[in-house]
Amino acid sequence: MDKLIIEGGRKLHGEIRISGAKNAALPLIAATLLIPGWHVIHNVPDLRDTRTILVLLESLGAIWKREGETLSINTETLNNLEASYDLVKTMRASILVLGPLLARMGKARVSLPGGCAIGARPIDFHLQALTKMGADLDLEDGYVSAFTDDGLSGATICFDVPSVTGTENILMAAVLAKGVTVIKNAAREPEVGNLVDMLISMGADIAGRDTDQLTIHGAKSLMPAEVTTIPDRIETGTYLIAVGAAGGEVTLKNCNPAHLPALLEKLRATGLIIKESVNSIFVSKPSIVHSIDIKTQPYPGFPTDLQAQLMALMSLSNGLSVITETIFENRFMHVAELKRMGAEIQINGNSAIVKGVKQLRGAQVMATDLRASASLVVAGLAAKGVTEISRIYHLERGYENMVEKLQALGARVSKEKD
Ligand code: EPU
Repeated sequence: MDKLIIEGGRKLHGEIRISGAKNAALPLIAATLLIPGWHVIHNVPDLRDTRTILVLLESLGAIWKREGETLSINTETLNNLEASYDLVKTMRASILVLGPLLARMGKARVSLPGGCAIGARPIDFHLQALTKMGADLDLEDGYVSAFTDDGLSGATICFDVPSVTGTENILMAAVLAKGVTVIKNAAREPEVGNLVDMLISMGADIAGRDTDQLTIHGAKSLMPAEVTTIPDRIETGTYLIAVGAAGGEVTLKNCNPAHLPALLEKLRATGLIIKESVNSIFVSKPSIVHSIDIKTQPYPGFPTDLQAQLMALMSLSNGLSVITETIFENRFMHVAELKRMGAEIQINGNSAIVKGVKQLRGAQVMATDLRASASLVVAGLAAKGVTEISRIYHLERGYENMVEKLQALGARVSKEKD
């Protein structure tokens, strides 16, 4: 296993390009299962997770090729309708194949994802919605087997809370269902909008993009799509926060500031100087970082996927910050590691109370999930001394070329064998 070595305390300067969004690319790739023919997806990041979903598609019989950032996928020759435990256990988003497989083939068997480092993360919303659309579901041997005799039928689905992959799975199921599906309390994340665009370019009839109610008129057939993955808003936010912690002046290219309303407002409140254009953001750090409070919320609220990184920044603020996590019940695993670097943080229920300190110190740390690892990178870049982060396969799931990008900004970062 590799580890990341960061010699902290160097300001970041320069310009980097933001990659395509992991959490957009995964459903776009899954959506190619809906219809045979060559689909083309541009701006796809080359990450552990995007490779995993391609291995999954291959195991179902799909073929694909990558040229630079463009993926071409053909799912004409599907010969297996089972997503195995080995693949699903490494990436929960594998559940995204259930909706499209069931819609096209009338049958699918997908391993249940099980628990996760950040919370229980059930998939009951996905399963209840598919049942309402006429699927027969069997839970046996750790797998969900789904069948329909006569295809799926439109239904009105109301999620208890807006689920991102739940909305995506049901959208994909609904575009080939008979009749009208209405998804109420739908997730409004930009990644869902990206999938809606792909499905519309396949010929699907979907109204309500970017709202909490999506209405889908099922189609008899669709055609292959060509689509571009949106820029990764969480990668963008992570680098903005890193500049806030380490200092310096950086321009992020090929990003979409409009997808980060809550983060940009909060970072401005800390005193960071942020200048936006349509597809780039310039950020520079003043001498003092003011403390702010945040509460994670579904989009357009503050993203849970940036909570850990923001906590690392607040560890260096000039006061007290209250960080409340409302999406996942176990997403404070980074706290103990940040404390090993000198952060002063107390957990009280689903809130963390962070008292800013003058300086963090390098340490050997380890993270349990992707965004927790990113928060340790933010802390390590700002800390005095050397930080060693083990298990960086977590980072490789979601940050394309992170070492190279940080090096391009002047950081002393390298990867070593553990
Ligand atoms: N939930 C249920 N039942 C369900 C589905 C969700 O109770 O059937 C609950 C979850 O436990 C959670 C809340 O609903 O409390 C929202 O979860 P959601 O379903 O929206 O999460 P997800 O779709 O599994 C996606 C991202 C996550 C991101 C969350 C929240 C992908 C592939 N993953 O997960 O990304 O944190 O939305 O924004 O899109 C990451 O990239 O590091 C990551 C974890």
